[in-house]
Amino acid sequence: MKIGVLFGGRSGEHEVSLASATTVMDALAQAGYQTVPIGISPEGRWLTSGDPLARLTSGEDPPAASRDGATQPTGITPFVPLDERMPAVDVIFPVLHGPFGEDGTVQGLLEMAGLPYVGDGVLASAVGMDKITSKTIFGAEGIPQVKYRALIRREWLQRPREILDEIERDFVYPLFAKPANLGSSVGVSKVRNRQELAEALELACAYDRRVLVEAGVEGAREIEVSVLGNDEPIASIPGEIVPGNEFYDYEAKYQDGRSQLLIPAVLEAEQAAAVCSLALQAFRALDCAGLARVDFLLGQDGTLYLNELNTMPGFTRHSMYPKLWEASGIPLPELVRRLVELALERHADRQRNRISRGCSENRTRMETERTDSHGAVLSLSKG
Ligand SMILES: Nc1ncnc2c1ncn2[C@@H]1O[C@H](COP(=O)(O)OP(=O)(O)O)[C@@H](O)[C@H]1O
Ligand SMILES: [Mg+2]
Repeated sequence: MKIGVLFGGRSGEHEVSLASATTVMDALAQAGYQTVPIGISPEGRWLTSGDPLARLTSGEDPPAASRDGATQPTGITPFVPLDERMPAVDVIFPVLHGPFGEDGTVQGLLEMAGLPYVGDGVLASAVGMDKITSKTIFGAEGIPQVKYRALIRREWLQRPREILDEIERDFVYPLFAKPANLGSSVGVSKVRNRQELAEALELACAYDRRVLVEAGVEGAREIEVSVLGNDEPIASIPGEIVPGNEFYDYEAKYQDGRSQLLIPAVLEAEQAAAVCSLALQAFRALDCAGLARVDFLLGQDGTLYLNELNTMPGFTRHSMYPKLWEASGIPLPELVRRLVELALERHADRQRNRISRGCSENRTRMETERTDSHGAVLSLSKG
């Protein structure tokens, strides 16, 4: 089976994606798959010839994304995916983090092309990327979260003083300000006073038109769980991140040796069970597929808060997602094999959906081959 591995991409997590893709491709090869590397440059150019990973890693073609620029300036993007120049593949493994990859955009493209792909679909990817919408859904499910307030950039620009007043009335410092759609802690700040809050909102608003302010959990422990599956997901044992900085910011995430991963997290059995059960609940709430890493904050008083759900978590050899599975009895090659199987399963499941109501009543329940649906559309237009 040929697996097309998509990596790079137009987000600030371009380099992380290259590192993740290296690990994923090695593991796929070990699992016996043929891999077809497909790179996306920071400008959005698709590279399918030569050695796309080497070309992007060397930055030779074209220049790499600036580290803190979350999204490259738009403009005209040379966009030639999925045409006859695309190599033939059976499944796509999109190893893309952040906007234009983890947010449902690439997933939509793959749906349009009718290709099976690893991981979450359009809805789960888009919602998982959006910290405000995902909080709304988790809240509706009764999943515990920190107190927060969502804000639109326009509101902030129009009445900053009132907004600062309102936040100071409703919250106590420390607070966190973050853009709704981003990752790798880009644009995330911890603030202790009004001045810092104003600066943090200004910064978050530079990255997104929607931002949020959250109550900070002092001395929080960061607990993460890996989830794997489609309709019957399973959870790994929980792990813990001990950030090298005051919080798990960009440097703490990506500078070697700054942060520590504790696997398993040292938790009471009851607490570990609660974390896993909430992780599965969150996975189902967003209708996730394939994989997700669910991150929690554990307060000093033992209160557990869901922080966020990542639909394409870091996948390097040192990343929490694969390491938690390894410690739970699923080594990397087996993990990617399962992900490919889950992609095929989800694709087949989608194909079973009836597309139009014109299908004959006598047809077997799930029979909606391409020809059938065309036939159905025809009969509808006639009727
Ligand atoms: N409400 C909060 N209380 C305490 N720490 C927080 C809070 N929100 C975020 N953090 C810290 O900031 C980090 C990054 O925030 P997060 O929401 O996970 O953004 P990202 O999607 O960029 O990872 C977290 O891992 C944690 O260290
Ligand atoms: Mg995070």
